Amino acid sequence: MLTTLAIANYRSLRDLVLPLGRLNVVTGANGTGKSSLYRALRLLADAAHGDVVGSLAREGGLASTLWAGPETLSRAMLSGEHPVQGGPRKGPVRLQLGFSTDELSYAVDLGLPPPQRPPSAFQLDPEIKRESIWAGGTFHPAGVLVDRRNHVVSVRGDHGLDVFRSDLDGFRSLFTEVADPVRVPEVSLLRETVRSWRFYDHFRSDAGSPARRAQVGTRTTALSHDGGDLAAALQTIVEIGDVEALHEAVSDAFPGGRVEVVARDGWFEVEMVQHGLLRPLRAAELSDGTLRYLMWIAALLTPRPPALLVLNEPETSLHPDLLPALARLVGRVASRSQVWVVTHARALAEALADQPGHVGFELMKEFGQTEVMGAHALEVPAWRWPSRG
Ligand SMILES: Nc1ncnc2c1ncn2[C@@H]1O[C@H](COP(=O)(O)OP(=O)(O)OP(=O)(O)O)[C@@H](O)[C@H]1O
Ligand SMILES: [Mg+2]
Repeated sequence: MLTTLAIANYRSLRDLVLPLGRLNVVTGANGTGKSSLYRALRLLADAAHGDVVGSLAREGGLASTLWAGPETLSRAMLSGEHPVQGGPRKGPVRLQLGFSTDELSYAVDLGLPPPQRPPSAFQLDPEIKRESIWAGGTFHPAGVLVDRRNHVVSVRGDHGLDVFRSDLDGFRSLFTEVADPVRVPEVSLLRETVRSWRFYDHFRSDAGSPARRAQVGTRTTALSHDGGDLAAALQTIVEIGDVEALHEAVSDAFPGGRVEVVARDGWFEVEMVQHGLLRPLRAAELSDGTLRYLMWIAALLTPRPPALLVLNEPETSLHPDLLPALARLVGRVASRSQVWVVTHARALAEALADQPGHVGFELMKEFGQTEVMGAHALEVPAWRWPSRG
């Protein structure tokens, strides 16, 4: 389980350390940084997939993603005596992302590549300056197990840190470059955990959505991002997952309703029996909200739960009456996977607050910087970034 998430200088997240629970719910007004937090989690997942540099480049590189406010805010700026101004930069450009789990912690530090001759055309690619994996929550040099500084990776041995490789490219993470589960088990362990994270953003429920058509049935333990393999994912739950939870979740949201997967020659189609109708409705006939709700059920009741499930605005196109049932479903799932929910729906946030393991983060912005409301009430863990020196 993730216990801490730390972000520095990523968009409006100038300096944020969050203590996480089983069920993390992020709310806040428009522009307060909810999506940036979601993106920060994705960037960490991208690091484990070897694509954090590419991902930042696609967002516009450091020029766009780096905190655009001043390096420090003076007291006079905070009180409004002086306008917010930036002075000459004192420290290096650093965008940092990190997290702790119960046993291991990881942090990555991205900066500007040194000037090259001839200049590189890859202007948007940042460079990985440092990556560290350490034991426990708070970084301290003696706890470092794997350390990457620029091109050199060192690994803890009997007598301290030994150089493991010294030819790493600045655009590659140690997650993809260090693959020795015997000598460096920590990298493999964290990589596999982070790679299991699943992000759900926007399911397709329009008239042309693939979920509305018959699909080739193949065992599907993780619903795809657009929900296109809904029928196969539901049938997989029926065969190897918690089929009772599936039927309960459907009838909790749609009293008297029941979902079935009809298989013909290996082609699957979702059908739903609804209260008051003489025949089941085919996926093509379901309303957007009903179809989406079935997608949430399929995504959440996955028979192979990941370490972390991230749900971005799951309330989209759902009527408020459905939100308490969705909250109960999410609460149930949070006992198997850690869950992260970003929501604009107050009714959903309130219903989730009654679920076990709930931690709420209400974001706000102060001087352009994302803060958590009532942060003093949270037990913010001690977090230290590995230095570059
Ligand atoms: N480089 C940057 N430096 C500082 N702030 C930035 C930077 N890039 C974007 N922002 C600001 O970050 C804020 C956070 O945006 P974000 O998309 O995360 O908000 P949100 O909470 O998801 O809002 P919404 O509810 O509208 O989706 C925006 O107000 C944007 O102006
Ligand atoms: Mg947003």
